[in-house]
Amino acid sequence: MKRVKIAIDGPAGSGKSSVAREVALDIGLQYIDSGALYRSVTWFFLQKGPVDAGTDFTAGLSECSIRQEFLADGTCRTFVNGADVSRSIRSEEIARHIGAVSDSVPVRNFVNSLLRDFSREHSVIMDGRDIGTVVFPDADLKIYLDASVEVRASRRVNEYKEMGKNVDENLIKKQIILRDEQDKSRPFGALVKAEDALYLDTTGMNKKEVVGRIKDLVSRVL
Ligand code: DC
Repeated sequence: MKRVKIAIDGPAGSGKSSVAREVALDIGLQYIDSGALYRSVTWFFLQKGPVDAGTDFTAGLSECSIRQEFLADGTCRTFVNGADVSRSIRSEEIARHIGAVSDSVPVRNFVNSLLRDFSREHSVIMDGRDIGTVVFPDADLKIYLDASVEVRASRRVNEYKEMGKNVDENLIKKQIILRDEQDKSRPFGALVKAEDALYLDTTGMNKKEVVGRIKDLVSRVL
């Protein structure tokens, strides 16, 4: 099989990660969750002190070492300077601070270079916001996944439930709207559909249907 790069971009809760993970497992590609890296960098800076738009992200980055361990079930464990942060990076505290961290150009360059390193060794399916536009403008296939805010909020609530957490759906919806605004207005690496990306609205689709559709598209470029 030739080495390929598949880019899946889209807003929070559009189903990118769960779908990409399943497609990767079925087809034998390496799934890379770029959001986990932004979350890990956010975790790293929160350990050091308060995080806001005025934080100097450049200085600390040289002390931040991120390693990912890919498991056979398609999941991945993420370590920051040796600490397993796989669970803690999914917290609401991270979600509240990640906007400021992902706006930082040095952070984006740092994450992008890690992401490109992965693709040198594996065929990858990578999800994020700017994979098809910035990280891999030369991707073999680009997909932009979307869904209504209501459906995305309810998917997130279910994810939290699976982790044993009860959250307020209205609050999650507000956070998603805020994150959409932040993700779309970022001066560098903003969430935008690449011109050559395929737009897929998953509002009325279940996971199985989305996985099937994407597997079909991926199989055409293998
Ligand atoms: O995919 P996610 O929800 O775990 O991503 C969390 C945040 O990370 C998202 O709101 C913005 C940032 N991010 C980014 O700026 N660029 C990416 N390629 C992936 C994530």
